Amino acid sequence: MIDRLAEQLQRARRVTVLTGAGVSAASGVPTFRGAGGLWRSFRAEDLATPDAFARDPTLVWEWYEWRRAMIAACKPNAAHDVLARWTRESNQCTVITQNVDDLHLRAGTERLVRLHGSIWELACWDQCGVRPWRDERVPLPNRPATCPTCGGLARPGVVWFGEMLSQDDIDAASMACACDVFLAVGTSAVVYPAAGLLQQAKANGAFTAEINIETTSASSAVDLAIQGGAEVVLPALAIRPPKLR
Ligand code: OAD
Repeated sequence: MIDRLAEQLQRARRVTVLTGAGVSAASGVPTFRGAGGLWRSFRAEDLATPDAFARDPTLVWEWYEWRRAMIAACKPNAAHDVLARWTRESNQCTVITQNVDDLHLRAGTERLVRLHGSIWELACWDQCGVRPWRDERVPLPNRPATCPTCGGLARPGVVWFGEMLSQDDIDAASMACACDVFLAVGTSAVVYPAAGLLQQAKANGAFTAEINIETTSASSAVDLAIQGGAEVVLPALAIRPPKLR
């Protein structure tokens, strides 16, 4: 299985990798839907929608501050490291992530597309015109956090349910679907539009593969489904580094 993927990667000119929460699981960041997943203990409607924030910004910030503290204690794992190396070795390798933890960035990934934003960025809730900013303080000085420009409420710089993804990110992700190999790693592949990228790549003629510890809704659609941890499978591939040109 791994050999077959390595062979495809070896031949590929353009490789695109879509990652999800499973890629950070070995770093200690909880996933959303698996065992111990966040959506098993919390309701997304209460914490990850614009309505939830409008209703109770302090509650929403409590949850995001708790996650920020947890993520701050985590480090990139071998899976992040391998993907970062691929992007550094070839500008034809693109990583698209649904994760907001920025562990791909911390591993040194280049040209990263962060479809769901970053938990380390904030934006003005009142849209006063200030650009989203980065603030890695844990905890933040005010709860709920405030906008340094207008003094109003600040919100986490992530995409919530019911919100649009940034058009720039959608365009970058769509362009990256014109590839020879499309690899979905550690994602349950149920949240759109991210989940649709696989079909898009397939329609463009890409060889599609999945790395996941369990079967997902994408498993039957891909050309190759490899069962295993991303932190194990990706380094195993890297023993024979894909010669991305
Ligand atoms: P999920 O929690 O839905 O799925 C994580 C996937 O990772 C599952 O399929 C697990 O089997 C797999 N997994 C767990 N550990 C793994 C490991 N060590 N190696 C490989 N795979 C492993 O997370 P996402 O698919 O990322 O969106 O979820 C997508 C979006 O739904 C998130 O970005 C978030 C969430 O609601 C928003 O908040 C908007």
